[in-house]
Amino acid sequence: MTTSWDPSQYLRYAGERLRPALDLMARVPAESPARVVELGCGAGNGTALLHARWPKAEIIGIDGSAEMLERARIAAPGCRFVQADIAAWAPDTPPDVIFSNAALHWLSDHRTLFPRLIGLLAPGGWLAVQMPAMHAAPLRRAQSEIAANGPWATHLAGISSAADILAPEEYWDLLHPLSTALDLWETIYVHALTGEDAVVQWALGSSLRPFVDALPEALRPGFLSAYGAAVRPHYPRRPDGTTLLPFRRLFLLARSGSRGQEAASSPG
Ligand SMILES: C[S@@+](CC[C@H](N)C(=O)[O-])C[C@H]1O[C@@H](n2cnc3c(N)ncnc32)[C@H](O)[C@@H]1O
Repeated sequence: MTTSWDPSQYLRYAGERLRPALDLMARVPAESPARVVELGCGAGNGTALLHARWPKAEIIGIDGSAEMLERARIAAPGCRFVQADIAAWAPDTPPDVIFSNAALHWLSDHRTLFPRLIGLLAPGGWLAVQMPAMHAAPLRRAQSEIAANGPWATHLAGISSAADILAPEEYWDLLHPLSTALDLWETIYVHALTGEDAVVQWALGSSLRPFVDALPEALRPGFLSAYGAAVRPHYPRRPDGTTLLPFRRLFLLARSGSRGQEAASSPG
């Protein structure tokens, strides 16, 4: 089953979700790329920023969700959008930058995906990726625990959210032979969320969607209420009304090219 995406729910915490995209963008040293592709562009708010950063570049957003792309075309009118599955997508012309914020963790088999993506770049092009690394966090753990226990369990048997991403060292080993520069880092953002049941609302915009999609309408309120009760002690609402959500993210920036070639062509 493919995950459904609700742009309005996702954008409820648009500022928090966009911040890692901005932090990643700031690290990409490309000065005047001709072609920039955003994989999993979603509602296009990051795509609009890519357009602002490189106004002369052709910016192409790729996403599997028609609902997200409809919003993206409004958010980033100067960009081109294509509905496609990232796992099968290949560009007509090699891009100078492939950028992806909070999307590639939804794809499986990163040991095949990441070498493939860097191989799609123009020589010297940049692969810039951010992915949540939250599998050990209560936000994610509670989803499978609650799914397995309750009147919804039969509907949710075999349903899971995005799989765990690889360890940073594994991305290093995959990409180091295929890159002339490679930088990996992790940041834990402490997102300050507002509103009632903020963590449930946050998760409803992303990781909880596969579970909710699989449930009949009548079982959804009970499931969400049980999930809320499970996560609330881990993320209590503070006296000032804020709910703090520590959120770990892995960043990866790689420049395409072979280290062997670079050594062979470098003078002296
Ligand atoms: C969490 S949203 C991130 C959106 C955007 N990058 C942002 O930072 O706001 C993940 C997006 O990835 C897209 N996506 C997930 N798996 C995909 C796949 N296999 N092919 C294409 N798009 C995919 C979803 O449709 C969704 O719009």
